[in-house]
Amino acid sequence: MTPYVQPPEPLALYGPEFAADPRDHYRRLRGHGPLAPVRLAPGIDALLVTDYQAAVDLLRDTHTFTKDPRAWQATVPDDSPVLPVLGHRPTALFSDGDVHARYRDAINDSLALMEPHVLRAEVARVARRLIGEFAATGDADLIAQYARRLPLHVFVTWFGVEPGDGERIVNGIAGMFNSTENATTAYADLVEVVTELVAARRARPRRDLTSYLLGHPAGLDNDETVRQITLIMSAGHDPTTNLIGNALLHMLTDARYAGSLHGGAMTAHEAINEVLWQDPPLANLGAHYPRDDTEFHGVRLRAGQLVLVSYAAANTRSAPGPSDSAVRSGASAHLAWSAGPHRCPAKQPALLIAMTAIEQLTSQLCDAELAVPAGGLKWRPGPFHRALIRLPVRFTPVDMSAEAHRHRTAGEAADGQQAVSIGP
Ligand code: HEM
Repeated sequence: MTPYVQPPEPLALYGPEFAADPRDHYRRLRGHGPLAPVRLAPGIDALLVTDYQAAVDLLRDTHTFTKDPRAWQATVPDDSPVLPVLGHRPTALFSDGDVHARYRDAINDSLALMEPHVLRAEVARVARRLIGEFAATGDADLIAQYARRLPLHVFVTWFGVEPGDGERIVNGIAGMFNSTENATTAYADLVEVVTELVAARRARPRRDLTSYLLGHPAGLDNDETVRQITLIMSAGHDPTTNLIGNALLHMLTDARYAGSLHGGAMTAHEAINEVLWQDPPLANLGAHYPRDDTEFHGVRLRAGQLVLVSYAAANTRSAPGPSDSAVRSGASAHLAWSAGPHRCPAKQPALLIAMTAIEQLTSQLCDAELAVPAGGLKWRPGPFHRALIRLPVRFTPVDMSAEAHRHRTAGEAADGQQAVSIGP
């Protein structure tokens, strides 16, 4: 029997210290074994899995663990800033077994409607339009002016969101991941916009994913549809923005890219892959709760206790050491898309969006370089994501006005079409 070891004090995973140096936090946590106590917000503690094998075992073990947070949630204040991410909603993310399969089928079938070549063309068109808005100025914040706007446009198009509601959607999603006092309001606003959209499509279906989900054989009611859409948007938008941002930063700072977007020998594909190993956009999530008191990888767990997976820590070295730079290699895959029944269902479209976004930028602004020292860049607070606040760059101004006109004209024609292929 494993001897009981007094757990250390929980390490805070919120606030500027964690945001500035998460790797140091992961290194310290690994020193306590495969699971270590963390604090997600004042008064909200969890156990964090930092070991690769323990993470895979947990993510696949539906017998020992449930995704339903309600027993844990009953112990947490209603206004806790982590609830917009961890609080129960009737979605795929918080359900097990047949209920999960029903939601997951509807989500998978909707995502399967994306035609990759149509999606690529749509993303490239929007990318060039966004780049055209700042190309002539010679500087830009690639998060606010590019990485955050591009996936939003894709989601707005997929779900048929009215153009004027786009900003509310992106603010709602960003707000809920920040895990600050505003997180609850942000999520409530997101739900309100999507509820209006679902009611409108129930009354008059169109050729968009909202209408498709409403008509799916799973028979989702309005609220279930609202919740799956907000899940797809929130699980999709923020991580895709951050994958683009983190990969661009990697290209701008890694010597193999020669400090600019087009100077080195490596490709966008390689930059994305390295970021998925070293700086995954969803750093810590995979919330699970033991169904009963149990022991897991030598640690005693109480029924209903919150256990999270650190995808970021599990991807990097499992033994504590002076450097986290060595990543696992060989047959084991990185965990940036999670694993088991709740792994990301949108890996392919997400990769396609990120890849196309970066390729467009590198082909248009080939000498872009960081406009501030890399050490001065700030990361958003919160325990769940790895997200730059800003990514300021400068470059030789490019005149894209002729092309912008061409794409505006093409775009006006294309705006009447969908990036999805729904039925014959
Ligand atoms: C088009 C963009 C994306 C969409 C629509 C999307 C959608 C989703 C959905 C619906 C889930 C819940 C699945 C379930 O519970 O069965 C999920 C989970 C997940 N996604 Fe994605 N996603 C996208 C992009 C990304 C990106 C860029 C990443 C990071 C590289 C990512 C990483 C994950 C992870 C780690 C999970 C598991 C969540 C957890 O830990 O609880 N996703 N995604």
